[in-house]
Amino acid sequence: MAVDLLLGLQWGDEGKGKIVDVLTKNYDIIARFQGGPNAGHTLEFDGIKHVLHTIPSGIFHDNTINLVGNGVVIDPVIFRKELESLSKYGIDLKKNLVVSRKAHLILPTHRLLDAASEASKGKAKIGSTLKGIGPTYMDKTGRNGIRVGDLEMKDWKKKYRALANKHVSMIDFYHSEIEFDLSELETEFFEALEILQSYTFIDSEEFLHQAQKEGKTILAEGAQGSLLDIDFGTYPYVTSSNTTAAGACTGLGVSPSRINEVFGIFKAYTTRVGSGPFPTELFDSYGETMGRVGNEFGATTGRPRRCGWLDLVALKYAVQINGVTQLMMMKGDVLSGFDKLKVCTSYKYKGKVIEHLPYNIEEENVTPIYTEMKGWKDDLTTMTDASQIPQTLNDYISFLEKELEVPIKIVSVGPDRTQTIHR
Ligand code: IMP
Repeated sequence: MAVDLLLGLQWGDEGKGKIVDVLTKNYDIIARFQGGPNAGHTLEFDGIKHVLHTIPSGIFHDNTINLVGNGVVIDPVIFRKELESLSKYGIDLKKNLVVSRKAHLILPTHRLLDAASEASKGKAKIGSTLKGIGPTYMDKTGRNGIRVGDLEMKDWKKKYRALANKHVSMIDFYHSEIEFDLSELETEFFEALEILQSYTFIDSEEFLHQAQKEGKTILAEGAQGSLLDIDFGTYPYVTSSNTTAAGACTGLGVSPSRINEVFGIFKAYTTRVGSGPFPTELFDSYGETMGRVGNEFGATTGRPRRCGWLDLVALKYAVQINGVTQLMMMKGDVLSGFDKLKVCTSYKYKGKVIEHLPYNIEEENVTPIYTEMKGWKDDLTTMTDASQIPQTLNDYISFLEKELEVPIKIVSVGPDRTQTIHR
């Protein structure tokens, strides 16, 4: 069987967790392929809201294997907290959750280094979630990292000590004022590692290869969004992994020829958390309403998200890079009651009108050009069927489908599993 792929097309927080949860019934395996606890995948059902950071979003389904892939970076301390928060739901975690031996570990000193590096950047800071993501991927590409599989080797503590000591001298180099008690952090870390070690470690690429041979259905779950991709995002204001389709191949060991559907998730408007350019950002009552009604606060850090109109230039770019075959539009309900809606269809860039995402989209280079559309008044949150979608929303959807040349198959009208319209 082929592998389907689900990823975010904007700056993250598109609602991937909810859609993975909705789609999980169609899959035997849900596999996270990159990122780490910087992600906050939110799922809501039976009146309860769950936020997952490392664990794949299929975990609430009894017969689904949830795989943490080699491209993911794991903080055992956060992983342990996630496991604890799930323990009351009667999920057989030991059976349904497996971890790639090739996934890298986030050490306590990676988190400290993240904080020291950000502090040293002053106003130019990335706005990182400070979960140690950047320093851990740096150690991975620098060939210094510690992987889950190392925990099964005898000498890994020696390797750990050498790396942690090196990190401490790097923190000194930043002249950072951050205060820390490393031995306290390490006690917590080593205790959490014991919990992690009680789970099944696998050679995940082999596991997935066999699963495909046996005809199992697999959904690869992305984290963050395409515009935060280390290569194709708004560098340097990005995360440190490949959040785009290619990341699923390297983050799971799945061949490009095995990828079938690519589900691209986007919000009916745009949000961004952290620093970096955002051409369609709003500083008026429309943006304020999006943030308030959409409850736009980071699921991991609680920071308010910046809000703005939908940017089709950026969205088209993400659709192309990922080869999206089906789109899913989230949070249309948040725009109910807007008298007008704007969609950015091109940029004015260095005196010219362009329709592609240029190298630099800083405010001084780019002015968005908008198409204005009528808003919808209806409350969408109780709708369950495509026939109930108001005409003005259908017009919005048709306009986007024409521009993006990909069908919008799901319209999400609220955070709950049930608030999902299939088209
Ligand atoms: P880091 O990945 O924590 O280093 O953060 C780098 C940038 O990506 C910052 O602007 C973060 O706000 C952003 N970011 C990281 N993870 C997420 C996410 O899951 N959703 C939205 N933004 C994210």
